[in-house]
Amino acid sequence: MNKKHNYDLPSINLARKRSLERSPIERELFVIPDECKNIGKGKKYFLRTYGCQANQRDSETIAGILEHLGYEAVDDLNKADLILLNTCAIRKNAEDKVYGELGALKKLKRESPELIIAMGGCMAQEEGAVQEILHKYPQVDLLFGTHNIYNLPKLLFDAVKKHEKVVEVFSRQGEVYENLPTRRFLKHKAWVNIAYGCDKFCTYCIVPYTRGKERSRLLDDIVDEVKTLVKEGYKEVCLLGQNVNAYGRDLNMEHGFATLLAAVAESGIKRLRFMTSHPWNFDDETIAVIAKYPNIMPYIHLPLQSGNDEILKKMNRRYSQKEYLELFDKLKKAIPGCAFTTDIIVGFPNESKEAFNDTLKVVDYCKFDNAFTFIFSPREGTPAYNMEDTISMEEKEERLQILNHKVADYALMHNKRFEGQTVEVLVDGISKRNKEVYSGYTPENKLVNFTGRQVEIGSLVKVKINSAMSFSLNGELVEE
Ligand code: SAH
Ligand code: SF4
Ligand code: F3S
Repeated sequence: MNKKHNYDLPSINLARKRSLERSPIERELFVIPDECKNIGKGKKYFLRTYGCQANQRDSETIAGILEHLGYEAVDDLNKADLILLNTCAIRKNAEDKVYGELGALKKLKRESPELIIAMGGCMAQEEGAVQEILHKYPQVDLLFGTHNIYNLPKLLFDAVKKHEKVVEVFSRQGEVYENLPTRRFLKHKAWVNIAYGCDKFCTYCIVPYTRGKERSRLLDDIVDEVKTLVKEGYKEVCLLGQNVNAYGRDLNMEHGFATLLAAVAESGIKRLRFMTSHPWNFDDETIAVIAKYPNIMPYIHLPLQSGNDEILKKMNRRYSQKEYLELFDKLKKAIPGCAFTTDIIVGFPNESKEAFNDTLKVVDYCKFDNAFTFIFSPREGTPAYNMEDTISMEEKEERLQILNHKVADYALMHNKRFEGQTVEVLVDGISKRNKEVYSGYTPENKLVNFTGRQVEIGSLVKVKINSAMSFSLNGELVEE
């Protein structure tokens, strides 16, 4: 039997295209087609999210849609009628986790053929990964891309009621959706998208292909969302974009991010954060706004990637070591007590020992509060995938170790300054390891574990720090 498939497959060539046109904004009411209504009634879904905050936020939309269809969330995947993986493609190890999970789900699918296994997110946007899944993982019933979330009701209907394998992945620049339902996972902290996609095309990175064009939401839509969150009792908002500093450029706004940040800071939210800042378009206006508002948290994630000019150029990062350091100094001076974290890639193609040492020099200069460090992972379709690389994996691993030791030393040094001090903590919940211990974050984004009486999740409390470790602080609740 030769069944003809009607698949919409991703294309890396299409995903690379960028137009100058403004992205469409979808505002019409989200309507579920009649035939799809109640397809989840009496059924349970299990949703697992990999990758960055953009994916976490997408998962809240996916959950919102599923609950509109009648599905109910479960924590145990053995009890689910629908298992949905929202995947990440940033590095090979992120993908391997998903392949491992899919392998483990094969047995479950064999035991209950009615189970629907769905996969969305950035892996679904990759040509190679989708081919691999179609050929080697027949247990996957539904593949949908990051631009196809809005169509989940129809896609699920086809998979559930028509028993078809469904693949819908558009490789387009994308739109701005203002109409999709959301089920937020937390009641005290919220992610708020300010811009989608990325136009930077760093040569190692898959994100511009999996997420489409850089497109900003309108300022009023963002401010309204934050005001609603404040009314609902949210204490913290984190503004999300692959490059928050590029906010508003597609809307012809001048100093878009500075303007937005000030407007959101005025909304009355207790704690305001943002992620991620690309060093390239971090303007003085933004620095002034961060310095001005006490509810903008003194914490900046400023990805370095490499400290060597030649490598930075090959990465297409658009700044030099000198420019990065100048920006760092400016921020440090303008925002006293500010904590800085960064991302670093070691072993970019043909990174020499000297080039790696330049990265170490920058780490010694900036003494980051923490750094997320990665070994370069070649991503098919990106320019760096084809770059010549004669550095062995052994050498790369050794460099990662050296870097990680340095990072941990500086992290501890920073945390030590909190010993004996009383800090403000936004309570996230009870620690996973010990039920007597609560955890939460300081304004500088330091993880604090503390003991004392019972406190409410989402409350702001004072904690006296007794001891510091590299990546967390321990303390005791202070009664006020
Ligand atoms: N938009 C953010 C980064 C998102 S990806 C920014 O520009 O800062 C998060 C981090 O993953 C990147 O900062 C980079 O350090 C790392 N990363 C991205 N692609 C990678 C690759 N191919 N191999 C290794 N690390 C990578
Ligand atoms: Fe990737 Fe660079 Fe865009 Fe960040 S700025 S998402 S690293 S291409
Ligand atoms: Fe991963 Fe996609 Fe985010 S590749 S890091 S989930 S944008």
